[in-house]
Parts: sequence; structure tokens; C-alpha cells
Amino acid sequence: MTAMKAVFLAHTAAPSGAELATLRLVSAMPAGRCAVVYTEDGPMLRLMAERGIPTRLVPNDFDSRAMTIDKAGVRSLAIGALGLLRLGWRLGATVRELDATVLVAGSTKALLMGAVAAGRARIPLVWHVHDRISADYFGRWLALIIRVLGWTVARGVIANSRGTLASLYTWRRRALVAYPGVEFADAAEPPEQRPAAETIVAVVGRLAPWKGQDLFLRALADVKNLPREVFLVGGTFFDEESYRAELEMHATALDLPVTFTGHVDDPESYLRHADILVHCSVLPEPFGQVVVEGMHAGCAVIATRPGGPEEIVEPGVNGLLVTAGDRGALTRALDTVIADRELRAKLADAARVRARDFDVAESGRAVTAFLSDIPRRRWRRG
Ligand code: GLC
Repeated sequence: MTAMKAVFLAHTAAPSGAELATLRLVSAMPAGRCAVVYTEDGPMLRLMAERGIPTRLVPNDFDSRAMTIDKAGVRSLAIGALGLLRLGWRLGATVRELDATVLVAGSTKALLMGAVAAGRARIPLVWHVHDRISADYFGRWLALIIRVLGWTVARGVIANSRGTLASLYTWRRRALVAYPGVEFADAAEPPEQRPAAETIVAVVGRLAPWKGQDLFLRALADVKNLPREVFLVGGTFFDEESYRAELEMHATALDLPVTFTGHVDDPESYLRHADILVHCSVLPEPFGQVVVEGMHAGCAVIATRPGGPEEIVEPGVNGLLVTAGDRGALTRALDTVIADRELRAKLADAARVRARDFDVAESGRAVTAFLSDIPRRRWRRG
């Protein structure tokens, strides 16, 4: 039997959550067992190279951004889909050169290209799902089409949470929930929680409307005691610059002590510096790596439900959960934790222990075993 070799396929090389999760995952898998192929140039190629992960760039000759779900009409979706299929054919050759035994598609676009590439290379395709395939993100019809597509072309799925898995069709397909793991590089004790008037709050994540930073700013404007400083850590990658401008306007108009840091490669220093991490997605977060990172870094975490954070946080024990989109509830949660330093310390201590359950080494083992066991052929006798 040939040893497993997985090629991960990504349609974007921007350092967004899914791509960073892939970076950590492949770093935790045995050396020589993975490579990553990008169809667009970007910072991820450098980040992978820095860790010695073999990467290839097979550039796209059309603008797949035109396919961004909310903007695309049926016609541009169809033209985009055709472009992805053509690119998939070229990718098939690359995947063969890399001696892959399994191809792992890390997004919906990658799934489409990957179906063609895996077919050409005669290897099974696995879909690594980082998004909930649900009507609230994709619209009813597109969600249905993507689910059926995934079921049809992928031999197995790896989901980043139980919630994500539940949004897929998995009948007679291999399925694994592999939480994106955290790398526990810095084991030093985090600094103590500050007194109420001194608190520092961090909100970490790409600036995007569904991540709810605008709701956060409005919730913050209503708190009884403002924190000393708030860091909005995160960049805009996918045509979201106007959203950033809007947020900056809100922050100024509401006279809030907010600093926009832009994208940072490693937000850990901000998290270690902060007393409170707020995660405020207004749609169900598929997983929410930053919640675990904040817990590990010693923050008292406020996160939203439903979604991945519900699988991470035990409310009142190692963090607080508020209903997504409920601004009043977010203000109340902020008031509670800002005022109560002891509560913050208690939540943060328990959170550090809980974060240990999300070790990327474990995800790496589970995914390696899963990919090694994917049947080569679609139909097995007996
Ligand atoms: C996507 C999801 C996020 C998850 C990440 C890693 O970015 O939106 O919730 O943490 O992928 O799987």
C-alpha cells in the first residue's frame, strides 16, 4: 500500500480563518505527507514556506472574486463555475505530479475545482468544510446545490464543528469533526485581570458585516463603564474596505476608545494584553478559532450563540454566551464582566484549562488517520 499523501487545495491565499486553520493543521501532520496548492497568490504561500510546507501556485486566469456569493447573478455564477472547472483540469496534472493519494478541498470553490482535479488524477476527494452550508450564508437554493454537490463529489467530509457537520448531507459518506486546533507555543502565565476602569477589550477577526463588529460598537456605546482601551484586530480581505470605513466612522461618532490594528499575522500578543475578548458574529459562527485563542491567552470571553462557540464555552464557567444579534444582551454581558474583576479572573482561569482540549496535535492525528482511511475506489464490493 502506498503511504497517504494529502494535497490541500485552496482558492485563496489570504490569511483568513480557514486558511490559517489549514496552516496549523498541515504543520501538525507528519512531514512529507502534505502539500498545499493555491490558485491565487497571497501571504499564505509565504506563511506555509516559512514552516517548510511544500506549496504550489496554479494561478487562476479569471477573477473568481466576481463570484462572491452575494453579488453574483446566475450568469456570472455559471461563468465562474466554468472557469473553476477549467482550472480544475489543470490542477489535476499538478496533483498527479505531487503524488497525492487524496485531495482535500478547503472551500466551496475548491470543491468544484477539486472534483475535476481529483477525477483527472484518479484519487478520492475530501471536502474540508469551514463554513456552515446553510440558507443564512448562501441563500436557500445555493445552499442546497452546494450540499448536493459536496455529497456527490466528495468521498468524505471533515467539518470544523458539529454544527458545521449538521449543515451537510453525509448519508453513506465518511465524516469527521476535527476542531481547528490551537498551537500552544506560549505557556507563560497570562497577566492578571485589571481593575474595572483599566480593562482592555479585544475583538479579533476579519472585519466583515456578519462578524458583527458594528453591533459590538453600538453595544459598547451603551455600557456603564467604558473599558480603557478597545482593539479591533483584523483586516479586510474580500472587498470589505467600505465596512471598515463605516466602523471607523461609528467609533469616532460614538466617541469610543477604539484602535483599529488592521490585519496582524499573529493576534496572540493582543489577546495576552487584553482582559476581555468579545466574539460577536451575528450569524452562527462555524467554529470560531479566536474564541479558543482568547481562552488560551487568559481572556474572559464573551461569545455568541448559536454556532461553534457553544461547543467550546460552558457559559458562566469558562466564558459567557449571548444570543447573536442581541445588542442589549451584549451590553449587559460587557457590563457584568467589566465591573467584576473576580468573575473575569474565574472565567479566564477555567478558560485556560478548557482551551487545552483544542490542541492542534490532536486534530493533526485525527485528520491524518481519516485521510489514510478514505477508500480509493468509489464502489467497494462486499
Ligand atoms: C472559517 C470559519 C470559522 C472557523 C475557521 C476555521 O473561517 O468562519 O468559524 O474557525 O474557518 O475552521
